[in-house]
Amino acid sequence: MGIKLLVVGSGGREHALVWKALQSPLTSAVFCAPGNAGTASMAVNVAIAPDDVAGLVRFIRERAVDLTIVGPEAAVAAGLADEVAANGRLVFGPTKAAGQIESSKVFAKALMQKAGVPTPSFRVFDDATAARDYVRGEGRAFVVKADGLAKGKGTLVPRDVAETLEAIDELMVARRVGAAADRVLLEEPITGKEVSLLALVDGTRVVPMVPACDYKRALDGDHGPNTGGMGAYSPPGFFGDRDITAAVTRIFEPVVAALREAGTPYRGCLYAGLMLTEDGIQVLEFNARFGDPEAQVVLPRVEGDLVPALEAAARGELPADPVRWSPRATVGVVLASRGYPGPYASGALINGLSRLEPNVLAFHGGTTTAPDGYRTSGGRVLTLVALGDSLADARERAYRNVGRVQFEGMTYRADIAQREVPATQLLRSGEGVA
Ligand code: GLY
Repeated sequence: MGIKLLVVGSGGREHALVWKALQSPLTSAVFCAPGNAGTASMAVNVAIAPDDVAGLVRFIRERAVDLTIVGPEAAVAAGLADEVAANGRLVFGPTKAAGQIESSKVFAKALMQKAGVPTPSFRVFDDATAARDYVRGEGRAFVVKADGLAKGKGTLVPRDVAETLEAIDELMVARRVGAAADRVLLEEPITGKEVSLLALVDGTRVVPMVPACDYKRALDGDHGPNTGGMGAYSPPGFFGDRDITAAVTRIFEPVVAALREAGTPYRGCLYAGLMLTEDGIQVLEFNARFGDPEAQVVLPRVEGDLVPALEAAARGELPADPVRWSPRATVGVVLASRGYPGPYASGALINGLSRLEPNVLAFHGGTTTAPDGYRTSGGRVLTLVALGDSLADARERAYRNVGRVQFEGMTYRADIAQREVPATQLLRSGEGVA
């Protein structure tokens, strides 16, 4: 009969999940709700929003969907996994209660304290005046984080006291992210190298995926506003097997155990935003889902079938070594609409996708299908991912193919994975020359 699978979400992450699921000989049907033009080209899109829990559950029952994979945080926070499980169907994604690890930064910090997981120290404030007084009293900058979900716009990293006070005003007074910042955390700033480590979790067991680095700022050199992510690569040269093992034993396993002990076991993909500091690994944040664009560079490195691992995790029966990893490197460059993450134009015709080289994948994010081809419909339009024998090779291929794609207002970062490529190679390719 085969497995009928539903991927919930509409970004590049969900296109990558659909693409990977379709390679499985076990799947007999793959649906995506609501999907995008890329998922429509290979699977069946279903026009149901990720947080329309009743609509999704109705669809799952009518079509006898065997396994649902939850993409975005909005679906986690809406309690999709709870309802799918209550209807006797398998779901890869955490319950609303376990998903608080992302939907409440205060919850995540309390959990980490309980589990003894290293994370920067912090204070919680429900009141802007008290937060401002604290900053003035300390006389230094703090990272300012909204407690709730804020689509990547809830964390501000000021450089001094004045900017910290401005950040508090922006979140708590101007309410730039609404009620998500009715409560904020002031967190001790730390420095180091950032890495995203995602793991499959079955309630008890943790299986790490390969690490990736994400680029959150809009502009080269980590300038400009925070975005959902402008590119990513895998593997980071500075985060090896020993670091992965340390992260699993000191971070993932204690947190997963604490959630289980609290009666809210975690099943699904657990994403740790980590910083490798001089004092070891610290947790910046957790996300209750696959990252975007991390999924686009991690999933192409899975050798063979991923569906049995997702299904086993959903059943609570994850084996020790369910995924084989390719040694090949991946570099993903997000092609965005000019203006993103602020206002941007949509409806531009996308040219050049048929001219991409082999070993290059185009995961759609904000696209629609039109009679004359694909058109833009979102801020992050495409993630172009190249595979290579090394990061340098993957990076060169990625940018060569970025040059083949064109749409009105197309913008992208030119420095994805640049830090991993030796300066001599950059000079040979003409980069790094003033
Ligand atoms: N790439 C960051 C995120 O998925 O939240």
